[in-house]
Amino acid sequence: MKSRKRGTAEPSTLLRDARRHLAAGRFDDTEELCRRVLTRSPDHPEAWMVLGKVRMGQRRWSDAEAVLARGCSLNPGFAGLHAALGQLYLELHRFGDAMGPIENCVLLDPAAGDQRATLVAVYGARVFATFSERSKVAMTICLADPALAHSLMHRAWLSLLRLDPEEVSTLELLDAPDYDSFCRLASDDRLSRWEASAFVSLGLRRFLVADLAFERGLTFARRWFLQAGASAERHLPLLCTLARYCFLTEYALVCEEDIAGLPAHPTSPVAVARLACYRPLAAHPDAATFRELSEEPAYRNLLDVTVREPVEEKAIAECVVEVAPIADAVSVLVRQQYEENPYPRWTTVGRGGAVSHDVARLARGKAILVAGCGTGREAVDAALIFPAARVDAIDLSRASLAYATRKAAELRVANVFFRQADILDVARLGRSFELIVSSGVLHHMRDPVAGLRALLGVLTPGGVLKIALYSTLARAVYAQAREWARREGFAPTLQGIRGFRAAVLARPDGDPMRQRLTASYDFYSVSQCRDLVFHVEEHSFALPELAGIFRELGLSVLRVEARGPRDLEAYRARFPADGAATDLRNWDVLERENPTMFSRMYVLWLFRSDGGARIDVEWIRRTDRM
Ligand SMILES: C[S@@+](CC[C@H](N)C(=O)[O-])C[C@H]1O[C@@H](n2cnc3c(N)ncnc32)[C@H](O)[C@@H]1O
Repeated sequence: MKSRKRGTAEPSTLLRDARRHLAAGRFDDTEELCRRVLTRSPDHPEAWMVLGKVRMGQRRWSDAEAVLARGCSLNPGFAGLHAALGQLYLELHRFGDAMGPIENCVLLDPAAGDQRATLVAVYGARVFATFSERSKVAMTICLADPALAHSLMHRAWLSLLRLDPEEVSTLELLDAPDYDSFCRLASDDRLSRWEASAFVSLGLRRFLVADLAFERGLTFARRWFLQAGASAERHLPLLCTLARYCFLTEYALVCEEDIAGLPAHPTSPVAVARLACYRPLAAHPDAATFRELSEEPAYRNLLDVTVREPVEEKAIAECVVEVAPIADAVSVLVRQQYEENPYPRWTTVGRGGAVSHDVARLARGKAILVAGCGTGREAVDAALIFPAARVDAIDLSRASLAYATRKAAELRVANVFFRQADILDVARLGRSFELIVSSGVLHHMRDPVAGLRALLGVLTPGGVLKIALYSTLARAVYAQAREWARREGFAPTLQGIRGFRAAVLARPDGDPMRQRLTASYDFYSVSQCRDLVFHVEEHSFALPELAGIFRELGLSVLRVEARGPRDLEAYRARFPADGAATDLRNWDVLERENPTMFSRMYVLWLFRSDGGARIDVEWIRRTDRM
């Protein structure tokens, strides 16, 4: 009776059952139902998609690829098939191949927010060698979505821009060899084209562009606007985008022009925007009146970012809850640094909408601590990824916590709680945590091991700790730069950091220190540059040293985050006996051969091996996105 009913059932009914079987891992039953649908409708898109997922579940990767590729060729307009094919390539770490199908999905389906998030991550590993109009459109769609971690894609964006025939006129302008050439090239038409490009304008609003030539072009543009007189008025939106970018760098840009003539009390939107290219507006005595000067959206947006938000942060900073007064002498100095320069000044993070129900279910009731949360990017991200978990976040700096609180409110994140506390006092929170995340923090403590011990004191039995620490090998060039900056007398102030940057740029082109510093994203804003080279307290580690510390504390390594799939493949090829790739001595061998391997820090997932408690592997596996 049942089978007779099935034999005549509609494809939609069969596929609904197929999806149920698939979710339960009953691959044979799923396949049988897909075959029935395909017998009746040979190009049915969902049947091909579900069948592809069956093959993925069976880990029959090349069959899965063939099924999904066939499904896509029969149904080029069905976004789900492209998404599944992209997912397959991601599982196989074929990031280059994943880009095309995920782009197709993003282009086909405006509601595919989670695919946009994935695409941004894929662009993170990409530098374009040939121009692709399709990639430009997909990237522009991603840039227009405020809930993505855009800074990941700054390199991909610039490489595509440099190849784009439509943006040639803007690039010629920005690549001008000197200011006079810039002025000769800066026609009204050229500036209008720059202004009209959503791709360029959105990029400049979303991230810093870690490229010297590009940065220099922007300084020429800023100077041109200063000196352009009335013609600047025709390009107010472009001037505002530029001013917003200067604010984002915290005014790190080298300034060769004389700005003494800037009016102390600007009375037009152009004059306000010009001033914003050189100085923060929030503390300006007339700041409250600037808004009335124009309703131009780019101008209003500039004022939101440079006046309203900093003023809000100042008010929030006064209300941040203090767990205990900061007492440790080094912590006091570190706090001072981050009160002056909260780090990092992020604009956007990934979306929580991509979280599936089962992840949300697994996270229900879990407690997460972000220790040394800075401006809250990681904490907000965790709260978005795990909306049913509670995220506590602590830091020394009230200014950083205020930035974090404002961003959390802006993104309507209600499950994160920011408080001022030293990690050394973390027990005073009176809670314990299943997951503790502390990135780039412990190495700024007087005694990083004491910090680690304090965190272990609030880790639940079976809990997991994710830490990121500086590698001595990877930091060698920055240690040199730090020493050089000290010898040359550059102070950790705006002027000192600007002077330092100018001195780095004056070093010869092939100079290794210049190359490494200018290749770092952190070189391009004041707080990041201060963090990179001017930190008041900094330690770094070698992997064998960390292995010793972890042994002593009864910690085991659950995961070592590799820079990319290639490093992981190199590890597995070299040390096939360690499938989990967690032996720090082996990683040490590889790092010595490739000293920049951990330039993004050692990112290590640890658990207590001495307590006997079992870790919830499934929950931790799902934290992949963090
Ligand atoms: C380099 S920032 C990293 C911020 C954040 N984890 C991130 O990855 O964006 C270091 C942060 O650690 C904080 N920090 C340093 N020592 C700390 C301590 N003893 N207790 C709490 N926070 C600390 C600083 O205030 C600063 O905000």
